[in-house]
Amino acid sequence: MGSTVGVKKEEKLVKIILSIIGCLFLIMLFCMLVMVGIVTVVNRPRGDREEVLSGKGANPKKALIIYQPALTNVTRQAAKQLADGLNAGGYEVTLNHPGNHLTVDLSGYDLVVFGSPTYAGQLTKALTQYMARGCPQLAKEGAEGPRVVLFATGGVDERQEFDRLAELLSGVKVVREVKFLTGDKEYAAKAYALGAELAQE
Ligand SMILES: Cc1cc2nc3c(=O)[nH]c(=O)nc-3n(C[C@H](O)[C@H](O)[C@H](O)COP(=O)(O)O)c2cc1C
Repeated sequence: MGSTVGVKKEEKLVKIILSIIGCLFLIMLFCMLVMVGIVTVVNRPRGDREEVLSGKGANPKKALIIYQPALTNVTRQAAKQLADGLNAGGYEVTLNHPGNHLTVDLSGYDLVVFGSPTYAGQLTKALTQYMARGCPQLAKEGAEGPRVVLFATGGVDERQEFDRLAELLSGVKVVREVKFLTGDKEYAAKAYALGAELAQE
């Protein structure tokens, strides 16, 4: 009698453990699907959305900001504030999203800025694929080419997304690699200050 009760208790325990493992598996699967969904959405090409801020004077310096916006507004806001900072310093600034509509000949610019959010420790493919097309040309121009700035946005104060691009950026005149943290209330002001600072250099 006592051993039958013991066996039933064991069976119940096994059922509970199996249910917990099943639930954990389903939660993991759900998280993975959400992650894949997010990464797919953020990598979607946003098309040709050129915006131009006129510069000061007859022959202003020119900057191009190529950024991939994502789900919230942080990367877009950082790109726009950076553009405003450069523009206040006299630059003509063109903003657009990465994609096949963009030329890879960036030699007409004094400054080129690449910007993207970070997902799973990587910048968006939409941006890095464009960079893979444009950077060899920038590397060829070397010191004669435009200054290049790379910015990432993200929630984690780590920089592995920049390390991953080291090879791609080899030979390119990179003057800043900056990460704007989503939890930093000052990130927009910092982006503006960066633009203003770059305009003075
Ligand atoms: C699924 C997921 C993965 C993320 N992975 C990272 C990460 O590896 N490193 C990081 O700094 N931020 C990470 N973040 C935070 C995003 O980078 C942040 O939400 C993004 O910069 C916001 O940009 P947006 O406003 O343009 O969407 C992640 C966010 C989500 C939702």
